[in-house]
Amino acid sequence: MTTAKIGVIGGSGLYKMDALTDVEEVKLTTPFGEPSDALIVGKLEDATVAFLARHGRNHHLLPSELPFRANIHAMKQLGVKYIISASAVGSLKAEAKPLDMVVPDQFIDRTKNRISTFFGEGLVAHIAFGDPVCDKLAAILGDAVANLNLPNVNLHRGGTYVCMEGPAFSTKAESNLYRSWDATVIGMTNLPEAKLAREAEIAYATLALVTDYDCWHPDHDSVTVEMVIANLQKNAVNAQKVIQETVKKLNANPPESTAHSALKYSILTPLD
Ligand code: ADE
Repeated sequence: MTTAKIGVIGGSGLYKMDALTDVEEVKLTTPFGEPSDALIVGKLEDATVAFLARHGRNHHLLPSELPFRANIHAMKQLGVKYIISASAVGSLKAEAKPLDMVVPDQFIDRTKNRISTFFGEGLVAHIAFGDPVCDKLAAILGDAVANLNLPNVNLHRGGTYVCMEGPAFSTKAESNLYRSWDATVIGMTNLPEAKLAREAEIAYATLALVTDYDCWHPDHDSVTVEMVIANLQKNAVNAQKVIQETVKKLNANPPESTAHSALKYSILTPLD
């Protein structure tokens, strides 16, 4: 049975990890249907890593169409304890420039159309989500960016990720509303993943790759797919270096995370 301690979910522009060796394509089924694609399990820095292309390797799934529960269930089936999510985001702050990297520590949920829980149908539970990101994993991720000292890439530790429904990008009024909330970046995918990972007792952290200034910035054009892809292609090589460095540190010294016991005090339905 194939197992992996570390999972990587790659977003727009990051459809594979070039440095993975001894790769095996693992097709899993789950009670929630099929994951976005086969999981690619291989070796990276002596660790076994399971890579999943969030939108599929051919990018055929919209954010609202993503099988979030199947994706996290598949990671859990493989024994994954840590998920590193790499995601394209728009920036809501002048100081977070395109090509910069942000490691958010908070989320705001603006999704409308997603099932973001494994609970229900007789099992009532409420996980704690005040700190939605594993601080230890986020610190390792941030240190990896800092240690690599990548040219033209500034690191922003902490910050709030607004998760919108999409697929249309925001209006200027929305973008300015999120800025008034002091949010840092905006994307369309990470919040359901973070919630489901917590319910599955998997530590989760995000490497947010800034591709644009959304539509609020007076000196920059409003975000387009062309802009996102152009910057992502520049970012994808750097993102892989950061993930590799993170995996190295994580594998050498895997931290105990509060996420690993998230269910301990969260289940209300008597189980016997
Ligand atoms: N992904 C990349 N840029 C984005 C933006 N401006 N809004 C939402 N998701 C994004």
